[in-house]
Amino acid sequence: MAKLGVNVDHVATLRQARRGVCPDPVHAAFICEKAGCDSIVAHLREDRRHINDGDIKRLKDTVITRFNLEMCIAPRIVGIACRLKPHQATLVPERRQELTTEGGLDIIANRKRLKDVIKRLSDKGIEVSLFIDPDKKQIAAVPEVGAKIIELHTGKYAHAKNKIQSLERLEEIAQALRYAKGFGLTVNAGHGLDYDNITAIAKVKDIYEFNIGYSIICRSLFVGLENAVKEMAARVK
Ligand code: PXP
Repeated sequence: MAKLGVNVDHVATLRQARRGVCPDPVHAAFICEKAGCDSIVAHLREDRRHINDGDIKRLKDTVITRFNLEMCIAPRIVGIACRLKPHQATLVPERRQELTTEGGLDIIANRKRLKDVIKRLSDKGIEVSLFIDPDKKQIAAVPEVGAKIIELHTGKYAHAKNKIQSLERLEEIAQALRYAKGFGLTVNAGHGLDYDNITAIAKVKDIYEFNIGYSIICRSLFVGLENAVKEMAARVK
């Protein structure tokens, strides 16, 4: 059965609209765990546009499932992760102007730096996952940099314009997954997944965990966070 990681960034986005203290992403994480999610994800961006340093410290102290810190490979952020020691670090590319993480990491172009960062994080006992596009060349480069987990970027699938495109992109993900399994990698998936498009991708065998944020937080406005997580968990599982 696939697992569900809930990304609480958008709770912090709402808080930042008024630069106040509520809604609190740590309180949200508690409710998500109570509703049965398997991990909590939060992205400490360099510009701190939503999640901040205090949030990740409190998440590390209070999350009882697993805390997955999403992060770029900038030296300062890597230093923070090494001191914090979350259960997992998911490495993502980060561009200041983007609304959200737009593409996967370029493992090939960043090979040397990634090797160093992954070793530093692994030496602290942190599991490392790499957020990448469903691209065989990128996947083939993963073992060399020392990671054992990848998260396939599902954005292209999620934003398919019609049924045919959606099926093609789903097949691309399924093929990438089978290729990655050949290297013995654990494969997660996420980005842009919602209560509709999750149905088909949840049927793809061997996806270990889905990481989902925006659609769950949006739905929580209407049905409450606990129900929103339960509904998504039922679809994922
Ligand atoms: N996984 C990764 C690596 C991401 O960067 C994001 C977006 O923060 C997600 C999953 C969740 O995407 P969404 O908020 O679109 O569900």
